[in-house]
Amino acid sequence: MGLRKNQATLSAGEKARFIEAILRLKANRIYDEYVLQHREAMNDMMRMPAHGGPAFLPWHRELLRRFELDLQRIDPSVTIPYWDWTVDRSLASSLWSSDFMGGNGELDSRRVTTGPFAFDTGRWNLTVTSPGDPGPALRRALGQSSGLPTAMQVEAALTRVPYDRSPWMGSTQSFRGVLENLVHNPVHAWVGGSMTQATSPNDPVFFLLHCNIDRLWALWQARHPNERPYLPAAEGMPGHNLNDPMSPWGGTTTPASVLDHRRLGYWYDTDVVDSIIDLTIGADATQASIERAGETDIYRFVVRTAGTYIIETEGPTDVVMSLFGPNSDTALVTEDDDSGGDRNARIASRLSAGTYFVRVRHYQPASIGSYRIAVRSERPQAPLPEIQVNGTAIQGNIEAANESDIYTFTAETTGLYTIVTAGNTDTFLTLFGPNSQTRLIVTDDDSGPGLNSMIVADLVTGVYFVRVRHFSPTSTGAYHLSVSR
Ligand code: CU
Ligand code: CU
Repeated sequence: MGLRKNQATLSAGEKARFIEAILRLKANRIYDEYVLQHREAMNDMMRMPAHGGPAFLPWHRELLRRFELDLQRIDPSVTIPYWDWTVDRSLASSLWSSDFMGGNGELDSRRVTTGPFAFDTGRWNLTVTSPGDPGPALRRALGQSSGLPTAMQVEAALTRVPYDRSPWMGSTQSFRGVLENLVHNPVHAWVGGSMTQATSPNDPVFFLLHCNIDRLWALWQARHPNERPYLPAAEGMPGHNLNDPMSPWGGTTTPASVLDHRRLGYWYDTDVVDSIIDLTIGADATQASIERAGETDIYRFVVRTAGTYIIETEGPTDVVMSLFGPNSDTALVTEDDDSGGDRNARIASRLSAGTYFVRVRHYQPASIGSYRIAVRSERPQAPLPEIQVNGTAIQGNIEAANESDIYTFTAETTGLYTIVTAGNTDTFLTLFGPNSQTRLIVTDDDSGPGLNSMIVADLVTGVYFVRVRHFSPTSTGAYHLSVSR
């Protein structure tokens, strides 16, 4: 579960879970460690690794990833959303509503009075402070002293090369320099109050701001495949070179270690990838090619019944194949870079039911070439369990972590159908169809204060597929499933 989304697209449930995880990190004091790390990094004038230099982007990427992993220890479904201020640029944006970041500071005192971080809730007192922001109230002065960067200004940063250049610290003649100084700094100023201090992570919107900055770095890398993704290699100040340990983490945490955000385990909904191609188990091989240096092709297939599956590439192109799933494009199952004397890749793996993703790239990053890919089952599969519409509920069971169960039902007439789970297991329903296991209709992760999941959908006649999995990927449990018209 590593997809970072635009905050404007989050559901009410996703927002509530993000806020709740933050409040719990604050309550157990882990949140304040991030505020402290940021303050120390800004005050460390000897080796400023975090700001005003090339390591600005990798340093904040590492900070955000650690923060996100801490949130996920509380709620595995949470990722950090990003704030695209070229679109959400008004005080009326849902970003500032009281079910999410809360609103502006009040006049004069600038204390935030609405939302989960309001000063009088008792849940959000600033404990790591700056001389300019002594707390205990979070403060904001939205739009008082700066404008938000426009889409044109962001685009101007994205077209700028190289990543950075000498003089390494003050340059605005590079991508990093423009992004940090002309795009990032004004957003801190626009929010104002606590966000203008070395302790700016006291305002949780800090993480949404930096998530967007991190996303823009990823977009820049994808747009400039022939640029060095990071500079300087060794000519900069200590802490800023490609392989320098970054303070305070040290050790193997270097700019080089965070260059590929997907290898850290998260993605953006704006990542530039070729469209996903659906593979059918047992079908003829699909013809494909790596057309650009560095290209990754992504495939998807649905396993209905647990069993052993074989994914194979053919042809003269030497490819590396990685398998992810179930129901995740970041949870690695296995990888194969060379299956022997021929130049192809082959994965044979025992898979539970669910959706799987295959990534194919060239073994040599600078090379291109064509190949074919196919997936097949080692033996014929049993048919899917069928639910009778208006019949008795089916008893199901998530027996293993990450398992998903697939059912089918037939809509014989057009109309409203209700698919519902019952029991003590917190299930997550997904509906596909008609007559397709991959055409998503709707997902329901939580239908309210109860534990179960319900989908009500207007369906045309056809065969539909229902996937049931546990809300928490590591949990198991029994449930009942029924469909009524
Ligand atoms: Cu910072
Ligand atoms: Cu910042």
